[in-house]
Amino acid sequence: MRRSRIAGVGSYLPARIVTNAELAERMDTSDEWIRQRTGIGQRHIAAEGETTSMLGLKAAEAALAHAGLTAQDIDLIVLATATPDYTFPSTATQVQAALGITHGAAFDIAAVCSGFVYALTVADKFITSGANQRALVIGAETFSRILDWEDRTTAVLFGDGAGAVVLEAIDGKGDAADTGILTTHLRSDGRHRAKLYVDGGPSSTGTVGHLRMEGREVFKHAVGMITDVIVDAFAATGYSAETIDWFVPHQANQRIITASADKLGIAPGKVVLTVDMHGNTSAASIPLALDVAVRDGRIQRGQVVLIEAMGGGFTWGAALFRF
Ligand code: ACO
Repeated sequence: MRRSRIAGVGSYLPARIVTNAELAERMDTSDEWIRQRTGIGQRHIAAEGETTSMLGLKAAEAALAHAGLTAQDIDLIVLATATPDYTFPSTATQVQAALGITHGAAFDIAAVCSGFVYALTVADKFITSGANQRALVIGAETFSRILDWEDRTTAVLFGDGAGAVVLEAIDGKGDAADTGILTTHLRSDGRHRAKLYVDGGPSSTGTVGHLRMEGREVFKHAVGMITDVIVDAFAATGYSAETIDWFVPHQANQRIITASADKLGIAPGKVVLTVDMHGNTSAASIPLALDVAVRDGRIQRGQVVLIEAMGGGFTWGAALFRF
């Protein structure tokens, strides 16, 4: 059975770090409030002129180097973002051009914070169907550009960054002992639009708009949705909270992550947390966290990793893979 394995991981963060204390100088908030409610201590913010495709390119180059491959080995780019460089062309094609790739295909995925799980799922399907050999799967965001910096209820939560993985085709036996992506589960329910959205767009207002969120409503739905798809992933593979090695959740909020892990019985020591350093980087957060834990030696080859995310739409999803 054809599988897709993660051959390499990479990430990139803009140089500028904005601490909670710095935000407190600009708006009516405090380090204590932000840490207590979200676990966030700082976030990275893109420089003027530094776009989503630039961040995505650097993460992609790092993932290729980690895999020991070159851009010419890639025949598919799937890039998840809610903050594209332009309405069109896609940010994926900008990264493709910057990498010097003129074969294969590149396109964007719009699933906001769930974008990386969606993109990984799509790329896995393209590879396991036999259509493609090696894919770059990228989550890249410049959420600082769609924040309302006058709104303290949302401005303190998000950051910029990018993460990427290289997926490549391998042969497996078709059982849960295989290396590579073992199962993926995607969900959405568009009735929840008003709880988390951007109040602009080309065909509605003709503007880019700003992020709006009913934080409590998002919180209320998040844990149930996240745990539902994880239960599906466990049922599909036979793995459980006890038998997975690592849980790399979307880094929205430490309280959501802790509540989800507790509900599922995942030991705190298995949870990779980067929200304190990165804030919520939307589609970039999972590959950023994955890269941190691979590079610091926690996640080892052969180990089983669970990822999940939930975001605007609502969209949500989970995937389980052997690294
Ligand atoms: N600094 C100081 N005070 C603040 C701030 C701030 N940055 N923001 C809000 N407050 C105040 C409010 O005005 C309110 O004051 P009041 O009681 O005088 O009216 C008080 O703090 C409490 O506000 P709530 O919104 O009720 O605070 P809550 O405990 O719900 O925390 C938060 C807000 C952190 C947004 C929480 O609802 C949350 O984490 N929700 C999940 C949202 C999320 O993570 N979204 C990310 C995108 S979706 C995703 O990725 C899953």
